[in-house]
Amino acid sequence: MSIKITGTGIGLPKRHVTNDELVSQFGLDTSDEWITTRTGIKGRYICEDETLTDLAATATTNALADAGIAAADLDYIIGSTVAADAHSPSLACAVAERIDATCAAVDVNGACTGFLYAIDAASALIEAGRASTILIICAEKMSAHVDWTDRRTCVLFGDGAAAVVVTRGNALKYIHLGSRPDTQVISIPNDMAGNNPIARDQVPAGFVYMDGQKVFKYAVSMIQQEINDGFANTGLGSEDIDYYLFHQANLRIIDYAITRLKQPHDKFPTNIERYGNVSSVTIPTLLHEMIHDGRIQPGQKLFLCAFGAGMTYGGAIMEWE
Ligand code: ACO
Repeated sequence: MSIKITGTGIGLPKRHVTNDELVSQFGLDTSDEWITTRTGIKGRYICEDETLTDLAATATTNALADAGIAAADLDYIIGSTVAADAHSPSLACAVAERIDATCAAVDVNGACTGFLYAIDAASALIEAGRASTILIICAEKMSAHVDWTDRRTCVLFGDGAAAVVVTRGNALKYIHLGSRPDTQVISIPNDMAGNNPIARDQVPAGFVYMDGQKVFKYAVSMIQQEINDGFANTGLGSEDIDYYLFHQANLRIIDYAITRLKQPHDKFPTNIERYGNVSSVTIPTLLHEMIHDGRIQPGQKLFLCAFGAGMTYGGAIMEWE
């Protein structure tokens, strides 16, 4: 699979909100102790006046600079988000406008697995010779979709964006995507009412709904399946992997995987403590941080694994170059 990542960048809101501030400033009936012990989250970035496109444009500009390329060098932009600033145009088109790109631009919505779905699409386009330099921009403004009076959900999520530049290479060794369709377990209802005079069932706009315990069960089972399949398909074993980059939804889900894989804790980097769950943004943000602080080095093997609403899931193995 002929791709590699040549540049990364992130874009964050100015405002960081700690668990204690949720109580002291927003009057939420929760505590740092509850959130930390159940999820591992200590804080999250939340938009004040930033749009999703603002975050995405910052991440993109940083990734292009990191890759040493200009917007004119891109021949595809793939956006990943559960909700762009508009139903249409897409996040990818909004980013193209900000950076003055004129290439193809389209979104995927794989929820928290979106980054892996975008990597798979980018890999297919490059292998088919249909593109050579692709921007993947993941961006989420979860603060706009949660009910800030519902302590079961609003404490879990954060806002942010992360971009990667993908070109021809040999880093991606394996990728697999799947779904176990269950549209009830996590959802963000859309406002589909419009003003159609003959529509009978008008669905009101709604907030994020999640059955946390069901998601937990799905997540651990999907991670286990992806790890088993990845190793079976590549002949690698758990000790061959230098880092496991898992979707950052809940530290307890990652702890469960650590127990199953029996590998050292430092092979499972996390950043959920600072960011909360930022859906498809979590894995590319981890990648960005680890490349730029020197933890990821050429030749190392990474196992990327995610699960999300749908339920979607996926795993990928990269040998960094
Ligand atoms: N602060 C204080 N108390 C709370 C809070 C909160 N923020 N949230 C819930 N509670 C209370 C509930 O009201 C309930 O109280 P009650 O027994 O008096 O009714 C009690 O805590 C237990 O509630 P549960 O929902 O059963 O809590 P649970 O132990 O399942 O933990 C959690 C919830 C953390 C969401 C857990 O189910 C989980 O980790 N699920 C995995 C799902 C996940 O990580 N989703 C992330 C987003 S989805 C995705 O990324 C694909």
